[in-house]
Amino acid sequence: VKRKPYVAGNWKMNLDRRAAVSLATAVRTGLQGDAAVDVAVFPPFVYLEEVVRAVAGSGVAVGAQDVCDQPSGAFTGEVSAAMLLDIGAKVAIVGHSERRHVYGESEELCGRKLRAALAVGLEVILCVGETIEERQSQRTEKVVASQLSKGLVGVPANQLSKVTLAYEPVWAIGTGLNATAAQASEVHGYLRGLLSGLYSPAAADAMRIQYGGSVKPENARELLTARDVDGALVGGASLKPESFLAIVRYR
Ligand code: 13P
Repeated sequence: VKRKPYVAGNWKMNLDRRAAVSLATAVRTGLQGDAAVDVAVFPPFVYLEEVVRAVAGSGVAVGAQDVCDQPSGAFTGEVSAAMLLDIGAKVAIVGHSERRHVYGESEELCGRKLRAALAVGLEVILCVGETIEERQSQRTEKVVASQLSKGLVGVPANQLSKVTLAYEPVWAIGTGLNATAAQASEVHGYLRGLLSGLYSPAAADAMRIQYGGSVKPENARELLTARDVDGALVGGASLKPESFLAIVRYR
């Protein structure tokens, strides 16, 4: 099958209100009429609503960088999937490396978050990826397999079209050192094989798998045209409209 490329900008904890609106507006303007690639941006929670307003009607989706695993109640500091949907977010990132490794989120918690998001009708980008120690000790496949299967626990086949995977090797995030196209293809192909076993060959074939980790205009074409790579999850280079738009137009 032909999978439509999907390029997402994860703004992380950057920008202020004005800069967030201005970046969203510039992305919207720059993309006018370009529907060849699905595009989404992930601002900090507090700027979500304004960014939703800034891109309304443009086809640019807005998503949250995280989501609570619980539907409502006494969970101080958390934001529920229903609240995100309520303010116009369409997607949530689950299991980003910084959530797993800086804030200690477990694979089980990521699975609950993913199910909580799907339960209200949000789409999800589920991130997986190995650390440099894990890669050097040949544990990459074991690590991403566990993150994938625990992340998708309890997700029925008919919900899978709401899920995008992102392979983000931890050693490539924010380091300027991207995985090579061959390294990305190898892990993406492995993930697709796992999906085929967990679900079906057709479901695996339809799943989009983004690559993330030091994607920039200079390497976007090589990475995004690599086998089994269906787009990118971009951090640093998504903070400037010129570089983000250049990645979206990688062809
Ligand atoms: P960088 O593009 O800054 O390496 O970040 C990647 C990332 O973590 C996107 O979620």
